[in-house]
Amino acid sequence: MDLQLSGKTAFITGSTSGIGFATAKLLLQEDVRVIINGRKKSSIVDAIERLKKLVPNGEVEGIATDFSNVEEVAALVDQLPHLDILINNVGIYTSQTFFETTDENWQRQMEVNLMSGVRLSKYFLPKMLRENWGRIIFISSECASLVPEDLIAYSATKAAILALSRGLSQLTSGTEVTVNTLIPGSTLTEGAEQFLTNVAQKENKTKEEVEGDFFKKVRTSSLLQRFASVEEVANTITYYASPLSAATNGAAIKIEGGSMGGIV
Ligand SMILES: NC(=O)c1ccc[n+]([C@@H]2O[C@H](COP(=O)([O-])OP(=O)(O)OC[C@H]3O[C@@H](n4cnc5c(N)ncnc54)[C@H](OP(=O)(O)O)[C@@H]3O)[C@@H](O)[C@H]2O)c1
Repeated sequence: MDLQLSGKTAFITGSTSGIGFATAKLLLQEDVRVIINGRKKSSIVDAIERLKKLVPNGEVEGIATDFSNVEEVAALVDQLPHLDILINNVGIYTSQTFFETTDENWQRQMEVNLMSGVRLSKYFLPKMLRENWGRIIFISSECASLVPEDLIAYSATKAAILALSRGLSQLTSGTEVTVNTLIPGSTLTEGAEQFLTNVAQKENKTKEEVEGDFFKKVRTSSLLQRFASVEEVANTITYYASPLSAATNGAAIKIEGGSMGGIV
């Protein structure tokens, strides 16, 4: 299937690893110019090197910006070129009780997970509307609805993204611009792999047993009963970044293996 993405330019926040990196790879394979992001120049240089090995002819650059730092974010927009596709992917969390979570921690998660997308959309949505084409994609989480009790702040940011995205989509009426949110569930990123390895060592189990335990005891509502691969999530993101998804706007699309339940 030709996704008709050739020649477009995309910026993906938080893309030196995980879902963002996998999406960068797929977009490069579709002949999209991709700008990746992370906090440090060194991790960007490393990620660009890996992407160039995976997609030798891909046009990839990177910009280091820490989304918890407002000044760095303000400087970022001047460094970015014209964008056709903005993927607000960056997301951080701290696993702790509600009572342990400080105001500073709440603020940091709000800045990185929510305000990054607010600020970038404020800058790029008007440009996309003028061009009469654009894709803004937000990455939420199944936690927006499941709200694990050790992730209340994170879950609140992910729920807020849904309202933000829906609201912005309403500003696109009558244009070819779309704003959608994609909702991953438990996904096997490098971080998740490391977590499984650590628990497996500690509990003298295999990684497969630890994964099985997680779905049997914690994420019981998952129909998939396994982690999604980063490629499975990135495939969906890439489709919604493409012109082929034109009739989907203001939507929340689940890639969570059925964990959130419901008939829509
Ligand atoms: N993985 C899951 O199971 C899962 C499930 C549901 C939703 N999600 C959501 O999917 C998105 C991607 O998650 P992921 O698990 O793929 O992420 P990840 O593997 O933790 O990726 C982290 C990326 O974010 C960058 N980053 C971290 N803090 C940053 C900051 N302050 N400013 C700029 N970049 C920053 C890192 O760059 P450097 O380290 O190079 O700075 C790296 O590129 C997130 O929004 C997450 O909430 C993930």
